[in-house]
Amino acid sequence: MSTPLNTVEPTDSDLKVEAYIKEQAELDLLRFITCGSVDDGKSTLIGRMLYEAQMIFEDQVATLRNDSRKQGTQGGDIDYALLVDGLAAEREQGITIDVAYRFFNTEKRKFIVADTPGHEQYTRNMVTGASTADVAVILIDARQGVLVQTRRHSFITSMLGIRHVVLAVNKMDLVGYEEQTFDGIVEDYLKFAEKLQFETITPIPLSALKGDNVIARSSHMSWYKGPTLMGYLETVKVRTSQVEHPFRFPVQWVNRPHLDFRGFTGTVTAGVIRPGDRVRVLPAGTEAVVNEIVLYEDRLSRAEAGQAVTITLDREVDASRGDVLVAADAPAGVSDQFDSSIVWMDQEHGFVSRSYWLMIGTARVNATITEIKFKYNINTLEELHTRDLSLNDIGRVTLAFDKPLPFEAYRDCAGMGAFVLIDRFSNHTVAAGMINFALRRAANVHRHALTIDRAARERLNGHQAKVFWFTGLSGSGKSTITNAVEQALYARGIRTYLLDGDNVRHGLNRDLGFTDADRVENIRRVAEVSRLMVDAGLVVITSFISPFRSERDMARSLFDAGQFVEVFLDVPLEVAEARDPKGLYKKARRGELPHFTGIDSPYEPPAKPELVLRSHEMTVAACVEAVLKLL
Ligand code: ADX
Repeated sequence: MSTPLNTVEPTDSDLKVEAYIKEQAELDLLRFITCGSVDDGKSTLIGRMLYEAQMIFEDQVATLRNDSRKQGTQGGDIDYALLVDGLAAEREQGITIDVAYRFFNTEKRKFIVADTPGHEQYTRNMVTGASTADVAVILIDARQGVLVQTRRHSFITSMLGIRHVVLAVNKMDLVGYEEQTFDGIVEDYLKFAEKLQFETITPIPLSALKGDNVIARSSHMSWYKGPTLMGYLETVKVRTSQVEHPFRFPVQWVNRPHLDFRGFTGTVTAGVIRPGDRVRVLPAGTEAVVNEIVLYEDRLSRAEAGQAVTITLDREVDASRGDVLVAADAPAGVSDQFDSSIVWMDQEHGFVSRSYWLMIGTARVNATITEIKFKYNINTLEELHTRDLSLNDIGRVTLAFDKPLPFEAYRDCAGMGAFVLIDRFSNHTVAAGMINFALRRAANVHRHALTIDRAARERLNGHQAKVFWFTGLSGSGKSTITNAVEQALYARGIRTYLLDGDNVRHGLNRDLGFTDADRVENIRRVAEVSRLMVDAGLVVITSFISPFRSERDMARSLFDAGQFVEVFLDVPLEVAEARDPKGLYKKARRGELPHFTGIDSPYEPPAKPELVLRSHEMTVAACVEAVLKLL
């Protein structure tokens, strides 16, 4: 057992105090994460480590004793879980629901532990906690053995680049401290973990509640010869430092308090920088020399990974938020297509072709998943074919950005290779991901500059090109009205093309059905075709249910302002269903047509359409006239 340093009273001698402070400052830091399912005893374990390291102040101990008597589950003994579970509301629910970082130290090391909840929904917290950890303590209830959760946590841990794992087999007191039970669990786990990329796996039998092998060696398990948990954490060697890596500095903002000062503010993600060092600004590629490194009023002679500073350069360069300053002699790559691993964290599924916000470092871009290569079966690590990603799925995808960004593979530099995807409507963080490598493909396909462009064709046609994007339920009148609109335009000598759902689904989109994933792809293709046709100088009329806001918004983003006119046929479901021109609603109600829009597949009405037509309250002629006004 190590003597916690906090019990050392700074004595009479100033020298001793100084030595103490110096020692403290020099202790190295270990970051670890604990993962387990609800009731694995994680809170009890962390509570005990904190308690035994005597980081708890006396008054906290008093509160703890009180609370334990009142609501503890240990019959008046100290309930260590109460220490960690913190918020009263969480205590009442009996689950912990956020990442909490806790600090403590012994005479050997300082520790930051990320405590992440075990509940299935909170994979997000686990990803957050694990992304900065050097070691993962994976808790197992000795009575339960290896669970799906254990596998999921291990997989995420491995994917996030943690190389050292403690398999903490807890509640050994409840299985009579039996060696066979422990051995069985270890064997199970090692078999599973073979396919993961851990450097070391250290199994430790313990009881957080009774204190066996947490800090003090257990007298109940003389058969166990390995380290105690604390003994392990105090001595495990990890390679943590991003300081050795070439310099990386994502610009957070441009600091310009007055005309004579222009600095770039941010946090050094990797490496070291000194005045006089040459840097390159990515993605632009401009180079400059570091003039000063500023921290408040001070000028620093160096800054390293983890430090937030302002950097000034020897010349004016164009750089803004999202750009990255890198070592000129060891720059990062720049690309717009990537192979990535992602963890899906939202109820709403993830689809190919849908466009999301992607945040990487300080940059934000539009990104789409262009391919889902596979998702993992967490139990067997098998690769499964899939069309979409749902909550807690872990998959391998190809991502395309709408502009090139500086990056590095996550395993080389986490700060340059980790990203999150954000839904453009709900603003939820829907996924966390890691860049594996850039795809060269994109870089080798160049766009041709064409001499005859849209403007030229518009002149020849004598009218502007546009798209009228009709959206609404089946039976809302799309076919009737779009047909009438096209006739009216034709009569005025306007060159048109009508893209109709039922027709396109016989040809170009013959391979697509009506699952969410297929509809997303259906609309992506139609949007791209519309863009080509607008480029050809036509007035395009589209007639698709196009039930999802995301895809209509994506379609809009392909066009210049004013070119895209969204027309919402706002007809109540009852009306559309009563019309039932093709008898499909009846079929759907009988359960013979799955995924029917309005029945068992959603329709998301537009938020800001250019035109709303309540076709059940207007004549077709009036609808056509309203559309023509927008020409
Ligand atoms: S979309 O949702 O992907 O935009 P789209 O407009 O191409 O749909 O096709 C809708 C047409 O397909 C409907 O008008 C209807 O005739 C037919 N259809 C067949 N099955 C379905 C279904 N499950 N849901 C909606 N429409 C369907």
